[in-house]
Order: sequence, then structure tokens, then C-alpha cells
Amino acid sequence: MSEANSTPMRLDGKIAVITGGNSGIGLATAHRFVKEGAYVFICGRRESELELALNQIGKNVTGVQCDVSNLTDLDRLYDMVKQSGPIDVLFANAGIWEFLPLGNITEAHFDKIFSVNVKGLLFTVQKALPLFRDGGSIILNSSIGGDRGIECLSCN
Ligand SMILES: NC(=O)c1ccc[n+]([C@@H]2O[C@H](COP(=O)([O-])OP(=O)(O)OC[C@H]3O[C@@H](n4cnc5c(N)ncnc54)[C@H](OP(=O)(O)O)[C@@H]3O)[C@@H](O)[C@H]2O)c1
Repeated sequence: MSEANSTPMRLDGKIAVITGGNSGIGLATAHRFVKEGAYVFICGRRESELELALNQIGKNVTGVQCDVSNLTDLDRLYDMVKQSGPIDVLFANAGIWEFLPLGNITEAHFDKIFSVNVKGLLFTVQKALPLFRDGGSIILNSSIGGDRGIECLSCN
């Protein structure tokens, strides 16, 4: 028997939500989760990237165009998710990184970063809580930038 046939799929029958699942780390995770047997909901703002991601993954995936900083969008995402059943895994991965050196930070820049990386993250999790299966997992994607300063070579 081949290894693929003998190894149980670790997410068989599970429902997962991945924000920022239309590219990068989120898309790679969506691929892996589906391979492991999960049904996955992915969201992102760019519809073209969402379509590409859905075509690449091919099965057991639903795409929802959604900006995590917009609470109405999050409600629409979770309205779709709850039709399929309780959430087993939430990967709150959507985020942006745009650096400015201290001294050049504008209010608009601050609001943009915090609306996605802080407000968006918090409400992504909070709005999912009533839909969670007991024992489910919430995974937050972050950055080493939260622990240490990073030289910003492209800031000047
Ligand atoms: N790669 C790294 O070295 C690194 C380092 C530190 C932290 N991170 C964090 O890891 C996460 C994934 O990064 P990545 O490298 O995979 O980058 P990426 O390819 O740019 O992925 C970011 C994802 O988040 C989505 N997104 C951004 N803003 C969103 C919003 N307001 N609402 C919904 N979706 C949104 C993007 O899709 P749309 O643009 O279509 O919305 C995209 O799918 C991010 O949170 C990033 O900040 C990455």
C-alpha cells in the first residue's frame, strides 16, 4: 500500500477559514489544508487573485471577496461559512506591511495599517467565535517585526 493510501488525512471533514487565502502563505496553507481533507473558505480583496486561487486549488474550496477591515464584509464571509457547519480551524492571516520611518508616519498610513492588521484581525476572530466547534484552532499570523526592530532599507 502506498504511503498516500495508508496515511489518514489529518483534516478530514474539517472546515477551515483562511483570510488572505488568495495568495502567498494563505494560499499555500489552503492548498495544504485541502490536501489534508479539509473544506476551505478563502477570502481576500482582489477578485482576480481569488479566482486564480480557486482554479488552482480546484476542489473543496469557496472564495469570498472580503476586506477584513470591513465588518459588513466579515459578516458576509461568516454567513457563507455557517451554511456549511461549525468552523474547525481559523487561520487569521490577512495582513499588509508598508514601512515608513519614525518621523514620516502619517495619520492615513497609521489608520491603514491598524485597520487591517489590528482591527481586521480582532474582528476576524471575534466574529468567528460563535461559529466555532469546541476544540477548534485559531491561528494568528504575525511578524517578527512585533518583537524586534527591522532595518527598513526601502524607507528612504
Ligand atoms: N512573508 C513574510 O516574510 C512575512 C513576514 C512578516 C509577516 N507576514 C505576514 O504574513 C501574512 C501573509 O503574508 P504573505 O507573505 O503571504 O503576503 P501576501 O502574499 O501579500 O498575502 C497577504 C494576503 O492578505 C490579503 N489581504 C491583505 N489585506 C487584506 C484585507 N484588508 N482583507 C482581506 N485580505 C487582505 C491579501 O489579499 P488581497 O490583497 O487580495 O486582499 C493576500 O492574500 C501577512 O499578514 C503578512 O503581513 C509575512
